[in-house]
Amino acid sequence: MSLPKAELHLHIEGTLEPELAFELAARNGVSLPYADTDALREAYRFEDLQSFLNLYYELMAVLRTERDFADLADAYLTRAAAQGVRHVEMFFDPQAHTARGVAMGTVVEGLWRALEKSEETHGISTRLIMCFLRDESAASAMETLRAAGPYLDRITGVGLDSAEVGHPPVKFREVYEAAAALGLRRVAHAGEEGPPEYITQALDVLGVERVDHGLRCMEDPALVERLVRERIPLTLCPLSNVRLRTVDTLADHPLPAMLDAGLLCTVNSDDPAYFGGYVGDNFDAVRRTLGLGEERLRELARNSFTASFLEDDEERRAR
Ligand code: HPA
Ligand code: ZN
Repeated sequence: MSLPKAELHLHIEGTLEPELAFELAARNGVSLPYADTDALREAYRFEDLQSFLNLYYELMAVLRTERDFADLADAYLTRAAAQGVRHVEMFFDPQAHTARGVAMGTVVEGLWRALEKSEETHGISTRLIMCFLRDESAASAMETLRAAGPYLDRITGVGLDSAEVGHPPVKFREVYEAAAALGLRRVAHAGEEGPPEYITQALDVLGVERVDHGLRCMEDPALVERLVRERIPLTLCPLSNVRLRTVDTLADHPLPAMLDAGLLCTVNSDDPAYFGGYVGDNFDAVRRTLGLGEERLRELARNSFTASFLEDDEERRAR
């Protein structure tokens, strides 16, 4: 599906394909507990978010140098361009790297090497969103924001990801206040596995402009009405929802009902190396399985630009 689109929910670490994981492991002298890429792919059977996160964090051991992060981002941008992506707002997880002794600067400078030439090389404009791991402490999130100080000219916003249940948005009130004071945009994962109240908290306590996933809003009609009224974008990830068993099958995905309700939905890939497809594959899957027509697909593509952090003139050029 090559309709021009923006991707707004993409964890760059979740684009690490098995082949690149083994290449980086060899380059860095890291041993992986899998015989080969087939054996690694065999491990991609997830029960829930946590079982995925265990593998996602384990494989990050191969990412060590600026060049590794640059290669990772460049591989993603190459694939994304082939699927019609014109703009990406890319998440990264600094704490997953600093905890392993890889400095914030290595991560940001490495990603930047790929991002700064992305418009020219791939025709894709970019933004970086730094996510806090919600299963780590609020103090660790605040320390991460501090460590990002020298790189804030390259970072557009902050997000919140990792294990959701038991880690409500309110835990991160202070760090989001500090991020807002620095002029950073705010988003957060909410309502993926967590309850609708986490979505409300993300809006009211963290002041987010956009909700990542937000799927479980459908359990609360008053919340749906609010999201429609306030035009809060949701960054949905259908293939991710199937693989992490947030929905039983793709045919059960509430995307058509969400569009019918008037929600500002976007379709994204989340962690495409793990969930069986990049953003164009997600568009293809919802077209085929949910029977979305041409008009709905165009609406989703249009929404992706509307919901982006692009300025109006940039948005017009990207569309
Ligand atoms: N949910 C929460 N945290 C994540 C995800 C996700 O889908 N992907 C990477 N970190
Ligand atoms: Zn995500």
